[in-house]
Amino acid sequence: MSLLLWMMACSHGDHTAHGDHAHTDGHGDSGEVVGEVQGTLISPAEATDLDPDPAVLRVRLQAAPATHTFVDWRDGSALEVEGYAYNGQSPGPTLRARVGDTIEVELENGLDEETTLHWHGLHIPYDQDGVTWTHAGVAPGESAVYRFTVDRAGTFWYHPHFDVKYQVDRGLYGALIVEDPAEPAMDGEQVAILDDWTAAASTAVSPDDDHVHGAHGGEGLWTVNGQVLPRLEVAGGERHRLRLINASNSGYLWLEWPGQRRIAGDQGRLEAPDEAAGLLLAPGDRAEAELLPGAEGFSLIDRPYAFQGGEAHGETEARLDVALTAPGAAASPTAFAWGGAAPTPDPGFTDVLYTLQGELHTDAWMINGEVFPDITVQSLVLGRFGIVEVRNLSATEHPFHLHGMAFEVLSVDGVPPVYRQMEDTINVDTHQVVRLGVWADNPGDWMAHCHILPHEHEGMMTVLRVE
Ligand code: C2O
Ligand code: CU
Repeated sequence: MSLLLWMMACSHGDHTAHGDHAHTDGHGDSGEVVGEVQGTLISPAEATDLDPDPAVLRVRLQAAPATHTFVDWRDGSALEVEGYAYNGQSPGPTLRARVGDTIEVELENGLDEETTLHWHGLHIPYDQDGVTWTHAGVAPGESAVYRFTVDRAGTFWYHPHFDVKYQVDRGLYGALIVEDPAEPAMDGEQVAILDDWTAAASTAVSPDDDHVHGAHGGEGLWTVNGQVLPRLEVAGGERHRLRLINASNSGYLWLEWPGQRRIAGDQGRLEAPDEAAGLLLAPGDRAEAELLPGAEGFSLIDRPYAFQGGEAHGETEARLDVALTAPGAAASPTAFAWGGAAPTPDPGFTDVLYTLQGELHTDAWMINGEVFPDITVQSLVLGRFGIVEVRNLSATEHPFHLHGMAFEVLSVDGVPPVYRQMEDTINVDTHQVVRLGVWADNPGDWMAHCHILPHEHEGMMTVLRVE
């Protein structure tokens, strides 16, 4: 297929599956988008649905080694990474379903190490969660089938939960989108998965690493869907949904753009639109932006962010340019049915306390002084509203992530949010205390960990049992 056709087929996020692409990196068919011209943003190809039932999405994902080539059109340089891909592409195929659908994924392991698939942010049965705490991983050459239903609209993602620090860093991840057919339609939608790359294997967050110590906490060249600073073309007057996912191992994004408007977070639509300037996307976080282009193009810029406290150093860089095919009068925002719900009042008790501890200089990272898997399992009672308090005792920030159940943010340093705020990953600032409410309706042994993957790897993970 020519690149043009491929882009037309893939860039508008329709419901048809497109899986017949053989491209080996984020640039479409290899070799076609090489050079010193800015590429047009290409949403990752969608997975082919192998099941005729419209309420069932059945796909096959093969994890295998792949070479990724990232061309920086700004200076013509190219970065080659010996990495991994799903079905030959990184980001992997986008899985697109609707609320209530069943998703069935057959994973084929073409790597020479174990792997699994974890469904980040989804409320699914424990034995489908893709963790190796009480289940075996998928051995090289073997396959496994994951099956679950999706009950909440939003932008989720999938990635392995075995040797995560390495496997995710090498390109194993993709978007999982759950649509709500009752939502008003927009003119277009794009998936934008951000990641940062170096040619070297994943490195731990270390005080000696300039990149980490510098601007964004990342490790090198930032890409959007494997493209360096691509251009999104829209017409003035249109409404677009941009689904942002931070898939980086340890890189923070602090994004800003004119007319900034966020309509959804980790767990789907917000209770009210958020028009604050500056959007922090810590590793593992997602957000949906509503773009309302008018007379002029603009850029999504990424400001330096000091996730280890203190002053932020480094450069502000554009990550995505939004260019106009034709200017127009900016449209009014989409008329979503905003809930406007107030936060649940904090009941005051605490069921589970997690302290985040660690030392940059020793690279030892712990929860409650314990290093995974030598941990104490704490529990919430099935069917109750449980309270988890997370205290960051370290001098660096940590995106705290809980599997299996979303949580409500009850307060941050004692201050409740203005609206009800549902998340599955929340960045906990240095020396901050966050209180989270969990409707413990999903029995299982749920991983709770830092989504800075080198921290998780070093042991900053524990298990929250719901029984
Ligand atoms: Cu996205 Cu346990 O992680
Ligand atoms: Cu951490």
